Amino acid sequence: MDNGVALITGGASGIGFAVAAQLGRAGYTVAVLGRNVESGRQAATALCEMGIDAVGDGADFSNHAEVASLRERLGPLAEPEILVCSAGVMSEKMSKTLRTAPDEWDRVLGVNLLGVVNALAHFAPPMVAARSGKVIALSACLGRFSGPGTSGGLAPYRVSKAAVNALIRNFAAETGWGARGVLVDAVCPNHCRTPMGGPDAPRSADEGAETVAWLAQTNLEVRRNFIGNVDFPLTGLLWEDQKIISW
Ligand SMILES: NC(=O)c1ccc[n+]([C@@H]2O[C@H](COP(=O)([O-])OP(=O)(O)OC[C@H]3O[C@@H](n4cnc5c(N)ncnc54)[C@H](OP(=O)(O)O)[C@@H]3O)[C@@H](O)[C@H]2O)c1
Repeated sequence: MDNGVALITGGASGIGFAVAAQLGRAGYTVAVLGRNVESGRQAATALCEMGIDAVGDGADFSNHAEVASLRERLGPLAEPEILVCSAGVMSEKMSKTLRTAPDEWDRVLGVNLLGVVNALAHFAPPMVAARSGKVIALSACLGRFSGPGTSGGLAPYRVSKAAVNALIRNFAAETGWGARGVLVDAVCPNHCRTPMGGPDAPRSADEGAETVAWLAQTNLEVRRNFIGNVDFPLTGLLWEDQKIISW
């Protein structure tokens, strides 16, 4: 455990798995959390075969009690240096606001919004107590008020990601905009080739993971040297390709 522990929800596939591989290569112990124990363990085995120090477990992140049990099983690994919230689901294709069944709203908001809330509730308190850590949530361009987030369709997905943006911004404020040692940010990975993004997306999962892994490994000073002088703290932000973008 040279660099500490990185917990990654949605770590069994796609961008989450790619983040786990990048942080594992950088010397972190990675705990890959799947939707269930089996998928998390399979992903950890694949990472171990790549020479990475990985353990796998899992839970339905939309379920607060399941995440509480997971935290108990993880023991000291439940006190991470890095928490990446990548678990997510896409809305059904025709899910316009008036054409979306209540169950579909529950399913998408349950994973995409409450999944992040549950991850924060169970894994962020040790970071706050230690005054050290990074929280990074996978958002999406489809959740941006300044972008395609309000152009209609895929309503539960767009709304869930807009809500994640609000959650991250609020949590960053509550943790003092980095002044108390915890950095909290959101990332748009762009359209990536993953089970969610499909095989024809322009970017690889690795490319989608890069800004997440960069944020996970940079403190405020490193970010300031990279971005240049700005009159606001370099956390509590939405990032894409290592640049700040509007919410
Ligand atoms: N790919 C893109 O183009 C793109 C673009 C913008 C934003 N994003 C965001 O990036 C994140 C990662 O997406 P991805 O493309 O890597 O998709 P992905 O490969 O489908 O990964 C999502 C992961 O979340 C897990 N998951 C789903 N429901 C869960 C639950 N209830 N509890 C715990 N885990 C659950 C999935 O597990 P199972 O495989 O077992 O279902 C899967 O491992 C998502 O939040 C997504 O919205 C992706």
